[in-house]
Amino acid sequence: MPSFIETQFPIARLSAESYKERKAVSGQTLTGLGKWWGRKPLILVRASILGMLMPASADQIKDREIFLKILTMDDEGTWNRCKGEIPAGHWREAASSEIQEEYFGARGFRQGLTSEEKEEVKSQIWESLDADQRNELLTLKKRPAEIRDRNDFDAMPYAERLEYCERPENIEGPTAQAWAEINTHLGTEAANLQELVGQLGQRTFGHTPRVGDSFCGGGSIPFEAARIGCEAFGSDLNPVAGLLTWASLNLLGGGVNVQTEVRRAQEAVFELADRQITEWGIEHNDQGERAEAYIYCVEVKPEGSNTYIPLAPSWLVDEHAKVVVSWSSVSGSERMMPEVNILSADEVEEYKTKKHATIVDGRVIDPLDRSRSWSIEALRGVDGLRRWTRDDIVPRHQDVFQERLYCIRWAKTVTTTNDLGNKVTRTVRRYAAPNADDDARENKVLALLKERFSDWQRDGYIPSKIIPEGGDKTEEPIRTRGWTHWHHLFTPRQLLMHGLIATLSMQNNKQHLMAASMLNIGRLSDWNSKLCCWLSSKIQIAGGKNTFLNQALNPLFNYSSRPILMMESAQISLSKNLNISSRNMVGIVDARDLETDCDLWITDPPYADAVNYHELGDFFLAWYDKQVQKAFPEWTPDARAELAVRGDGEDFRRSMVEIYQNLASHMPDNGMQMVMFTHQDPAVWADLGMILWASGLKATAAWTISTETESVGIKKGNYVQGTVCLVLRKRTSNEPGFLDEVYPLVEDEVKRQIASMQALDEGAEPNFNDADYQLAAYAAALKVLTQYGNLDGKDVEHEVFAVRDRNTKSDFQTVIERALGIACDTLIPRGLDHSWRDLTLVERYYLRALDIESRGERRKGMYEELARGFGVNDIRQLLKSDKANGARMLTPSGFAATGLASVEGADAGSSSLPSRRGRAAASGTHPFATSPLRHLLFAIKETASSDNSPEPGRQYLRDTFGQGYWQKRERFISLLNWLAALGNAEGMGEWSEDSEAARILAGRLRNDEA
Ligand SMILES: C[S@@+](CC[C@H](N)C(=O)[O-])C[C@H]1O[C@@H](n2cnc3c(N)ncnc32)[C@H](O)[C@@H]1O
Repeated sequence: MPSFIETQFPIARLSAESYKERKAVSGQTLTGLGKWWGRKPLILVRASILGMLMPASADQIKDREIFLKILTMDDEGTWNRCKGEIPAGHWREAASSEIQEEYFGARGFRQGLTSEEKEEVKSQIWESLDADQRNELLTLKKRPAEIRDRNDFDAMPYAERLEYCERPENIEGPTAQAWAEINTHLGTEAANLQELVGQLGQRTFGHTPRVGDSFCGGGSIPFEAARIGCEAFGSDLNPVAGLLTWASLNLLGGGVNVQTEVRRAQEAVFELADRQITEWGIEHNDQGERAEAYIYCVEVKPEGSNTYIPLAPSWLVDEHAKVVVSWSSVSGSERMMPEVNILSADEVEEYKTKKHATIVDGRVIDPLDRSRSWSIEALRGVDGLRRWTRDDIVPRHQDVFQERLYCIRWAKTVTTTNDLGNKVTRTVRRYAAPNADDDARENKVLALLKERFSDWQRDGYIPSKIIPEGGDKTEEPIRTRGWTHWHHLFTPRQLLMHGLIATLSMQNNKQHLMAASMLNIGRLSDWNSKLCCWLSSKIQIAGGKNTFLNQALNPLFNYSSRPILMMESAQISLSKNLNISSRNMVGIVDARDLETDCDLWITDPPYADAVNYHELGDFFLAWYDKQVQKAFPEWTPDARAELAVRGDGEDFRRSMVEIYQNLASHMPDNGMQMVMFTHQDPAVWADLGMILWASGLKATAAWTISTETESVGIKKGNYVQGTVCLVLRKRTSNEPGFLDEVYPLVEDEVKRQIASMQALDEGAEPNFNDADYQLAAYAAALKVLTQYGNLDGKDVEHEVFAVRDRNTKSDFQTVIERALGIACDTLIPRGLDHSWRDLTLVERYYLRALDIESRGERRKGMYEELARGFGVNDIRQLLKSDKANGARMLTPSGFAATGLASVEGADAGSSSLPSRRGRAAASGTHPFATSPLRHLLFAIKETASSDNSPEPGRQYLRDTFGQGYWQKRERFISLLNWLAALGNAEGMGEWSEDSEAARILAGRLRNDEA
């Protein structure tokens, strides 16, 4: 019996939920434990597991209804989740008096703030609250006035409704009434998700289902599996990933006692560290102020310059407070002197340009004589920079790049009495250039660190590991700064503070406290390294960002360093009080060597993606590799880069086939797998399909969920990257297949799949888009193909590894492309059903492309995919724009008349071609040039350019087609009607004139008489 996910999946709703989860940056459940790249949305994992466990019945509509109920994604469940928003007044109460004054009026936010600015203020308030205060604020949510009742709510599109909803993971779950309906349909007796999962697992596997992920990364899959009651198994090659996954299950899911113990330990360590730092006197000055931020820059002394030149792409420090730094020379000194100035708004604008920058496009600019500049690359010298050694902490005197502190933000709390006689406490901040006392404090920091440095390295409280050479990302610090060890990426202040916290926190032998300490140090180093840029904000108080703002390890010319006060909020946050009681296991294993059996494998392999997990992960591992050994003696405390799956070449395919063969051999015959992967090019995944086929698996379904947020939003469907979820089962027999038998089967399967998706589409809230239908065609082809052990006697594994040049296709690829062709032809644009059969392939392509354009599709890849499906080789002549995310088709008036050629088989001579009218005829090589549709478009253009007089257009058609005109007239009219409607679609404004011309021409043709 197929499972629910093998027959359908609520793609549109799940995409909206995944998007919401992604958007909740600080509110995401697992991100508070630490950074990992490419975490999968928990809601997608939840839906996938339940979709694999829930059997499909004969009633697809009912199945869908019940499935949505389980996820609280049905209309009722969504309404129950509609808790609204926190009213502005409550944000005001939670804010500091300073923020209240600045951004709030008596009734709420001060007027004139944009919604983006309001969000920024809210996140600033949120960041300043502790866990209890946050929870309290959340209880104050209220439904907005515009949602008076359920009818108002249901009338909104799903994605919009979600703006007012809690995420499914943050509420109790389905209501008792919903459970009654779920149980009736499924024959279960469950009152919560865990019971349902247990009972469904029992039915299929005879026990609680065990879900495994061999590439567990940040832990989304095992964590969610365990949370909904499965036994969870997670493993990864990288111990940093292992630690994050372990912590998600055992700290976040560890229950109140564990969480309380962790929090207490964190607080105690911070108190002790703060006391020690205060005692050292390295973050306080004699004016009763404490440092809130230190800003450093690199400086160089190029040949011909008498002074060191401080480098920064901008000297704007705080846009909100209008603070900048300027530089002047000091007689008798090689060092320039920084000065902190407060400017007018106009002057600040100037600092936002490159005008005062001392590093522009890879060149050093002399701030005192801007006509002088030097190339940074040349300064590094032909032999490159001196390589720092293990005991280097700061640059040596002769090094090209020196480092210096140039600005400090000081803060102190003052209490005043306001007009009403109430005491008001606020923080007063100021920026200052460092003075002699500050320099002395810098020296003291270095001295304190030096005293401890070798002991701390030996005991693993600060990094001592080498940065591996030759990496994609790790080469950058080595080449551009000469930094060879991970500790070179940190200032002495950062090393001293992190080392102090590590010595204090890692004394405890309890596994969960050690794990929390390691993750904490990881978080601190992300938020406090020389790769943390300083961001001057217009709306907020300026501040430093984290190292992994992007997926790189690029050294900066100016950067920020945080004192301990500003690190407390960077610690790990255990945002949920969960008690995960199911059994779970986490291992550090190369996926090729796994020996654990699982009923369901859900994996998200590192497929052809740009993330170098082993390189980036080392940034964290360097801080706690020695502690990992103590807390998890059975783990390998090394990233083992040589075993990491990466790239997309032959090595990649071999490792993947080995891994998936291994996973297939570690699941029961009725087990299932899901392979997730995110890639913009829909064709790439056909390759992955082949790999999985060669691994002994057969595909049973594929769905794309929009999970990425680097977009304007999911409403438009543009720019959103989808995660393809491929559902697979074990191939238990290896029957031979034959190409000529396979084609008709593929055709039937594609049509069946598309018909069932069309039946599920919901009109106003479509579930599937064009990309989904195309993917479904691929999936249908894979479904048929992967049932066989070989095709025309050719072995799949052999085919996967066969060396081919770029233009040669395997039989397998040909079948898959044929499936796409069938899909393309099955999906007829609404309103063209009658004319479709008579159109040539290139005409169909043009119309289908217009169809997807009118529904907002702008990704060039989609237009190319369609072309593949219709067998059109060259689409450049049909595209107005071929931008990656801005593809559009030419309009009738946009086509050049030279792109026309005699219609094949037309009765009239070529005398009617535009050349007769004084234009040059084209050589006519492109098939579209000779198509009747192309001539019809020309007739529209003629109509539009004659002030909508239809006569020249009609005459053109008559001349061109001769007697054939009368046979084609009805078809022309229906095409013209379709094109006339195009101009009304959203975003199709450039069609408005041609659409009007098409409408008028259609009218004229209708009344035409011989
Ligand atoms: C795309 S990520 C997985 C992200 C994860 N699904 C999540 O939600 O956080 C891929 C993972 O594969 C791991 N990996 C790479 N090669 C591996 C191998 N040979 N064995 C096991 N894991 C490997 C990487 O360390 C990385 O964590």
